[in-house]
Amino acid sequence: MPSVLIKTYGCQMNERDSEQVASMFLAGGYELTKDEAQADVILINTCSVREKAELKALGKMGLLCSRPTAKPWVVYGFMGCMSQSRAASLFRDVPRLDVVTGTQQYHHVYEVCNRLLRSRLGQNITEHFRKGAHICRTQQEDGFQNAIRDHLPPSGNCTAFVSIMQGCEMRCSYCIVPSTRGSECSRPAADILQEVRELVARGVKEVTLLGQIVNRYGREEAIINGRSAFVRLLEQLNDMDGLERIRFTSPHPIGFREDLVNAYTYLPKLCSHIHFPMQSGSDRILQLMRRPYKNEKYLRLCEAMREARPDLAITTDIIVGFPGETDEDYQQTKAAVERIQFDNAFIFQYSPRRDTVAAAMDNQICLRVKEERNHDLLETVNRIAIARNQALVGTLQSILVEGPSKNNESRLQGRTSQNKPVIIEGGTAEVGSIVPVRIDECTGFTLYGKVE
Ligand code: SAH
Ligand code: SF4
Ligand code: F3S
Repeated sequence: MPSVLIKTYGCQMNERDSEQVASMFLAGGYELTKDEAQADVILINTCSVREKAELKALGKMGLLCSRPTAKPWVVYGFMGCMSQSRAASLFRDVPRLDVVTGTQQYHHVYEVCNRLLRSRLGQNITEHFRKGAHICRTQQEDGFQNAIRDHLPPSGNCTAFVSIMQGCEMRCSYCIVPSTRGSECSRPAADILQEVRELVARGVKEVTLLGQIVNRYGREEAIINGRSAFVRLLEQLNDMDGLERIRFTSPHPIGFREDLVNAYTYLPKLCSHIHFPMQSGSDRILQLMRRPYKNEKYLRLCEAMREARPDLAITTDIIVGFPGETDEDYQQTKAAVERIQFDNAFIFQYSPRRDTVAAAMDNQICLRVKEERNHDLLETVNRIAIARNQALVGTLQSILVEGPSKNNESRLQGRTSQNKPVIIEGGTAEVGSIVPVRIDECTGFTLYGKVE
């Protein structure tokens, strides 16, 4: 039986796409492997959002392609955002590469790779090629959002990602995603509900709805009884038997209306966590970023959601060192972090991306300043995050049990509604069940507790 190894960089959207590709290989009689020496097909799902992400994928593929192997027929492929954005130019960087497929072509990856592998196995290949097959498929497809389906998450998983839309048309000045993911388009609600029903029938208890601006889902549809298409979708999922938890990522202040804030008051399955990117606390920088709202609007939305759902955990993304960011701008970001008391924040040093407006701006910030701000902000973020975790010691939390702990197979691991990882000590609980756990210890970012 041939085997395929799929390595995934980037966001949850890539993880979901990798799952769809994996399920197509499984259906075609392949097995999944993590062993590089064993794999007959090696795929890397790539991310372009920062330069480092691209360099990592290129470095890894370069190493894989040049290693000595007992399987000279191996098919090497790139998929995902860097493939979309760099297309056939990737064959110059990695001449041994066989396949490059874009973000709207992943449902063809199996067919292309399998055909190539079969033809190589039919020949008597004894030596590793120096040059790959160089097959490039990056065209964008009309109506592609309706091809997002046939999705089997790895068996035994009680959580799943569900893409509800594709693309982004915001064109934030720093961001490459609009050019890697195409134009914004929502899937029909009936398709999404059907997919979730099938997932639930296979034991999934928690879904995370994915979109670049997930709250813009179905924005061409009418507002009915004050509720947008996105909130109506949340309501329908909340009514679905067998589904226990609903998450979504990432929302954006644009189109974030009161109906979504209110959803936190009457949708019990909607989890008490939102990942809500802030990017900057300075209005001047937000404007340069082409984020069309003031920071105060963002902060008020956070506060309104916390009022609607007092135990709401809020996490965020912040970019430091955007072109022209002064110390005063940076201090405003830090003040916003103190005001909201985020449960956690991903801090990114601004990375210039090809064909974006910000990359051509004057006043690029030097690496030293980016690093200083990153380091300084991380201290504040971590202090607050740890304090918020410590405040949970002694409380009773509902934990969705996800499986054995990664560090210690004899213990179980799960997550709170607030999306915090918890190691469950002692006791037995079934994977996929939601159990009450008393939190009795916290080491920084991990909570420990016992089933009550
Ligand atoms: N669509 C989401 C974000 C997707 S990209 C949204 O708008 O909220 C994920 C995160 O990467 C962004 O929130 C941003 O903080 C970061 N990011 C994007 N482009 C970047 C760049 N050029 N340099 C550094 N960080 C970047
Ligand atoms: Fe990028 Fe902005 Fe679109 Fe998010 S909203 S994907 S940051 S362009
Ligand atoms: Fe990266 Fe593409 Fe996601 S650029 S962050 S993998 S949409």
